[in-house]
Amino acid sequence: MKRNKILLLSTLLFAALALLNACKNDDDSGSSAAITDEELYDLAKSTSGFVWYKNSDDFLDMSAGSGHAQPLLRTRYNAKAAAALDSDGKVKAGTTFADGSLIVKELNNNPTTLAIYAVMYKSANDPNADANGWVWAYLNANGSVLSSSTGKGSGCNGCHGQADHIDFTLMNKFFQ
Ligand code: HEC
Repeated sequence: MKRNKILLLSTLLFAALALLNACKNDDDSGSSAAITDEELYDLAKSTSGFVWYKNSDDFLDMSAGSGHAQPLLRTRYNAKAAAALDSDGKVKAGTTFADGSLIVKELNNNPTTLAIYAVMYKSANDPNADANGWVWAYLNANGSVLSSSTGKGSGCNGCHGQADHIDFTLMNKFFQ
């Protein structure tokens, strides 16, 4: 009787572990499917749950170091990425952004006309991620693609890896 109970318990335990493992494999962070430009666009378009750099949605004049042509910008962080911001809304020194972090820089020609979403998405297992786990895309306001995530950030991460970057982000360097 006692032996049967132990047998039943260990079978249950085994089943529970197998189930747990199956769920783990379903987890996005372990998936090797590439996020598409369309999916990045949808994520970037919604402002809900984002925190603005320095807690302000005011437009900033582009910095001298900017590789982006539009004169105005503002940057926001999804909840995952915002975990790396301090109470002033600046990126904490030494940060490595967690998988699932999304940073969107809105580039505008004037305060009312959005031109481009510049997107950095941390997803180390994504086939389009660069060596540091970032997926990069440059998307027009209407969703058409200026620079696809399939390019693995080749036009982006050289400049973003300059001295004093924080995990390849540059807002802190240029907007103290
Ligand atoms: C010549 C340098 C340069 C290139 C090339 C460049 N960027 Fe940037 N980027 C900057 C600078 C400088 C900033 C800080 C804000 C500003 O002044 O524009 C920035 C800010 C950003 C931000 C806000 C997060 C942060 O703190 O860095 C995102 C997102 C971004 N760029 C995406 C991209 C993407 C995507 C590409 C490639 C398609 C790209 N950048 C190419 C210089 C560059």
